[in-house]
Amino acid sequence: MLELVPITEGIGTEVRGIDVTRPVSDVDLERIYQAWIDTTILVFRGQDMTPTQHVEFTRHFGEVFTYTRSQFNDDEHPEILILSNITRDGKPIGSAYSGRVWHSDGAYLTDPPVGSMLYAREVPPEGGDTWYGNMMAAYDALPPAVQERIADLKVVISRVQSRPYNYPDRPAPTEKERAEWVDVTHPLVRVHEVSGRKALYAGGNVPWRIEGLSEDESAPLITFLQEFSVQPRFTYCHRWSVGDIVLWDNRSAMHRATYYDHVKHRRLMHRTTISGVRSAAGTGSEA
Ligand code: OGA
Ligand code: MN
Repeated sequence: MLELVPITEGIGTEVRGIDVTRPVSDVDLERIYQAWIDTTILVFRGQDMTPTQHVEFTRHFGEVFTYTRSQFNDDEHPEILILSNITRDGKPIGSAYSGRVWHSDGAYLTDPPVGSMLYAREVPPEGGDTWYGNMMAAYDALPPAVQERIADLKVVISRVQSRPYNYPDRPAPTEKERAEWVDVTHPLVRVHEVSGRKALYAGGNVPWRIEGLSEDESAPLITFLQEFSVQPRFTYCHRWSVGDIVLWDNRSAMHRATYYDHVKHRRLMHRTTISGVRSAAGTGSEA
């Protein structure tokens, strides 16, 4: 029988009593979907699914998005993005250093992905955890004066400037990339398209700035919001076991990968991405 168990008061639901490779009733699906929207991340444990089943299960939550230019798509299942430090024939099979700072995926796109479903296939004995933060809860907890102050503000996000923070292992953007990667702006307070709830969009330990404000005004405000939103009461650290699935709502969550020993240990994660990326800049392999 389906059971929905809150993970903490501030974030997440663990979904129990379900085998994601078996048909799920409409009633159960609706409850699961609602828990995703309401609590921003879902955890499923002990699942054994093939890449095809992974893609199929993702479809319950939206359209599956394929990164068209990624070298880290699974050969047979291009919808699956591989995050791993494993190499084959001297070549990395996946993206090795994704997301080590607080971020939401594709913030540099005009239309970022709606969510992602990450599935653990091999995990290191220590490290390699993933943190999640509920940006709706963070917004709700802001002092009303701050909510008012930020109501109509916009953040400017530069993919060029974010690159060294998000992917310290990758080369600096080329001239061509610099020309292609235009800055995008997003509301600092996002309104969730399904629930109508507000979520703070100040994420990332990356140098975002606020449109129309001077650097002196913008930097302290962004720093305050970034620090405010990752307090323990809004966050949860997922310690992975093989067979775990975490589905996050990228419209209301931030997340952050943690360090593990790449030399001693292997980590292999499969990710599907739920659509939302429609701009031309939505290609590439950035997770
Ligand atoms: C991602 C991501 C974190 C991790 O897949 O978008 O940031 O712990 N992953 O692998
Ligand atoms: Mn990410």
